[in-house]
Amino acid sequence: MITLNPSTTCGPSSWLLYKLIKPHLSTSPQLILTNPKTSAMASPKLTPFVAVVALMLAPSLAQLNPFFYTFTCPQLPFIVLNTVSQALQTDDRAAAKLIRLHFHDCFANGCDGSVLLEDVPGVIDSELNAPPNNGIQGLDIVDNIKAAVESSCPGIVSCADILALSSQVAVVLSGGPAWIVPLGRKDSRIANRAAAANLPSPFETLDVLKSKFAAFGLSSTDLVTLSGAHTFGRSRCLFFTGRFDNFNNTGLPDPTLDAAYREQLRQLCATPVTRVNFDPTTPDTFDKNYYVNLQNHKGLLQSDQELFSTPGADTTAIVNRFAASQLLFFIQFGNSMIKMGNLSPPPGTPSEVRLNCRRINPSTTTLHDVI
Ligand code: HEM
Repeated sequence: MITLNPSTTCGPSSWLLYKLIKPHLSTSPQLILTNPKTSAMASPKLTPFVAVVALMLAPSLAQLNPFFYTFTCPQLPFIVLNTVSQALQTDDRAAAKLIRLHFHDCFANGCDGSVLLEDVPGVIDSELNAPPNNGIQGLDIVDNIKAAVESSCPGIVSCADILALSSQVAVVLSGGPAWIVPLGRKDSRIANRAAAANLPSPFETLDVLKSKFAAFGLSSTDLVTLSGAHTFGRSRCLFFTGRFDNFNNTGLPDPTLDAAYREQLRQLCATPVTRVNFDPTTPDTFDKNYYVNLQNHKGLLQSDQELFSTPGADTTAIVNRFAASQLLFFIQFGNSMIKMGNLSPPPGTPSEVRLNCRRINPSTTTLHDVI
């Protein structure tokens, strides 16, 4: 039996997470998901005997599962909870920054911490330099979480898992749903800048957005659901001021943007890099208001409003369902986050548990390296 004892760990807020996750600890085998990333990495040099033994051991390596660190780092959920709550005390956007990092990580090369790697000329062509990551923030928060985790469980927990777990904690602390986070990802030793450059853009049509999600096995429902993360956080004005006048060379504003809201936004946008709330009603709370805003033509980005306003789109009904039921949205959000979090790097991607999330380990480090 698996026990988590919050009294051995860190402070009163631990109880919140403990209460949230305890009921699920003895259940949810359905959440144990297969991770083709590691299962595809068996060395071709293994003898048959070793291969058989390796296959017997494989489940612990080859699957993401919520109990991955139960014995090696039992305090992990509480450490993450405490560091994310601390970050939120000084930064209203900490939660938004963390979940966006996880999304950008998973959509470039799978969820492997690659988004966090800084440029090293000739070695790492950083994803942070790809245009969609321009202005991405929150690496300092990840550093703090990693430092706290390393001091309790050195060399055990991957940066990719820290992103996945801290995203869930960030959503919970902002009033949103809890879900069981499958764990056991490894960090890549490479970055994939080209893939990062292909992240969805706020100027793309719904068809393009849908096809970019479909390329990862994510449906229209997943697209609408995950876009619901724009219930908190901010966007810089440069991503939506093109909707104010002469939208798509029509000589007119975007007709799907509420006129009064457009003028409010125009006032708020002092400079192209001014940051404006995604959700004008409850800017830092994770709730269903994003969808109600779309119904009221108050989606901030073109890519947001298209989900509701594209004629004949299957996404409109999904927006309406979530606008009507926060419970439905919350349940689906957990499901879609697990689906996104299960995206794995291509087979053969060299990986490890990184000691510093921004840099690959020195090549002599063998700790937890995956062959
Ligand atoms: C559907 C395609 C998506 C597009 C086109 C898109 C685009 C954007 C843009 C342009 C920004 C503003 C960036 C800036 O000003 O620097 C942003 C922010 C944000 N995005 Fe998305 N996004 C998408 C999907 C998602 C998903 C799937 C998530 C998470 C599950 C997410 C979470 C966020 C959050 C929380 C912020 C605010 C970050 C902050 O305040 O620092 N987005 N997104």
